[in-house]
Amino acid sequence: MPPRLQIALIDLKITSEIDTIKEIIALMAIWKPDLANRRGPKYLQIVEALSDDIAAGILSCGDRLPPHRELAYQLQLSPNTTSRAYAEAVNRALIRGEVGRGTFVRGPATEAPASDGGTLRRPATGPIDLSRNLPLPGLAGEMLARTCIELGRSGNLAALADYQTGADLDRHTAAAKLWLKRHGVISTAEETVITAGAQHGILCALMALGQPGDLLLAEQLTYQPVKAMAARLGLKIAAIASDSEGPCPEDIDRLCRQRRVRALYLTPTLQTPTGRTMPQHRREAIAAILNAHGVHLIEDDVFGLFHPERPQPIASLAPDLTISITSTSKYLAPGLRVGFVRAPAGLAGAVRSAVNLSCWMTPPLTTEIVARWIADGTADELVARQLAAASTRQALTRRILGEHAPSDHAAGLHLWLDLPDGWSADLFCARAASRNVLVTGGEAFAIARSAGASSIRICLSHEADAARLETGLSVIREILDAGPRQAPLVL
Ligand SMILES: Cc1ncc(COP(=O)(O)O)c(C=O)c1O
Repeated sequence: MPPRLQIALIDLKITSEIDTIKEIIALMAIWKPDLANRRGPKYLQIVEALSDDIAAGILSCGDRLPPHRELAYQLQLSPNTTSRAYAEAVNRALIRGEVGRGTFVRGPATEAPASDGGTLRRPATGPIDLSRNLPLPGLAGEMLARTCIELGRSGNLAALADYQTGADLDRHTAAAKLWLKRHGVISTAEETVITAGAQHGILCALMALGQPGDLLLAEQLTYQPVKAMAARLGLKIAAIASDSEGPCPEDIDRLCRQRRVRALYLTPTLQTPTGRTMPQHRREAIAAILNAHGVHLIEDDVFGLFHPERPQPIASLAPDLTISITSTSKYLAPGLRVGFVRAPAGLAGAVRSAVNLSCWMTPPLTTEIVARWIADGTADELVARQLAAASTRQALTRRILGEHAPSDHAAGLHLWLDLPDGWSADLFCARAASRNVLVTGGEAFAIARSAGASSIRICLSHEADAARLETGLSVIREILDAGPRQAPLVL
């Protein structure tokens, strides 16, 4: 019996028969999450409280949860918020809804949602998830099977199973240089650093560049972990104003004049989350400012290859100041966690030290797999397949969303939608969640107050099944067509 109820029963000094007690428990057992001391969006606070209460045994498998409207009433929140919380909890496999019966806490493994059997868990049932920016699943599995067999036969796995003490293996560095070149970045062996994916690369770049108290600039809407990393490292972060071409050079210049800026973090091609690509002249203007002020740039190009006509990276215009971040996650297989970074010679040692400090070395085995793929053409094939699939899904999206779709950046794995007047991102997300479609509200990416408050990001590649994507997009279209002032939500 949940501890809180036990206490309640003792307080009431109930001594009657077991059945009566059970009935009373059923009546009293209305779960109420404890949101005190929790931070972040309310719906996520509810999901976290739910997860904590399950972990603590306060809720167990089969326990019934209050209807979302009842919960909203108890917590003095809008039903949209509790409905979104329940949708997210369903998505995280914490609870399940049974038509006509209610919402119940899920059991462990046996009730796990069906998987597509691919490299990542992508449920084929439950809410349609357009909130996660992952590459399309399943393309790398067969290649991985083949390479593992080849590796097993190669007979020289010992080095890959050992600590590396000096530089990375030469063939891994050679592969890294090729991958960087593909992104327009020329790197020597000394300048090349292997990381466990781009996110790790960014962290190591920040560790190498910044001391606590230093100022980092980023776009007002940016890749979420950067904000958290800056906070963890004690860096201050300030937002650069942006326009339709990307971050405004005048604002960067102003900030560099007014404050001691240590570095900028930018994603010039297919930016997360806006999907925007900076034109050449904007890159040149920014490079000129960096060079004039001696300010460093962390240039994240994880999506660059999805845009074959992209301009040259800013790194080519300010090579002595730029740390270039690339990774193989979005094209080959995110689970392999391989990223390739180029840092100017004076900074490469510090980036390498940050790798040593955070994980000693990146796993040689997965780097070996990627290096083989880069050398034997498998990587080319996987990139081509991802690009083809992404462009098919972009075309499908534009067909379904019609006039609601943005006119630019028809490339990559996600799109950014500025909502029509009257919508807030929160309301839209809640309405979509109530129809079992998950998208991300723009504020999740904001480092400036109210940025993104009326925009959403729609990810096109987390769902393995194109039919589910189509259904999700059709729901989004219907919601947009109906407009914000429709009847209230019903879960
Ligand atoms: C802009 C950006 N940078 C970095 C990453 C992380 O890439 P990786 O999986 O290689 O760490 C992502 C992932 O979504 C991203 O959107």
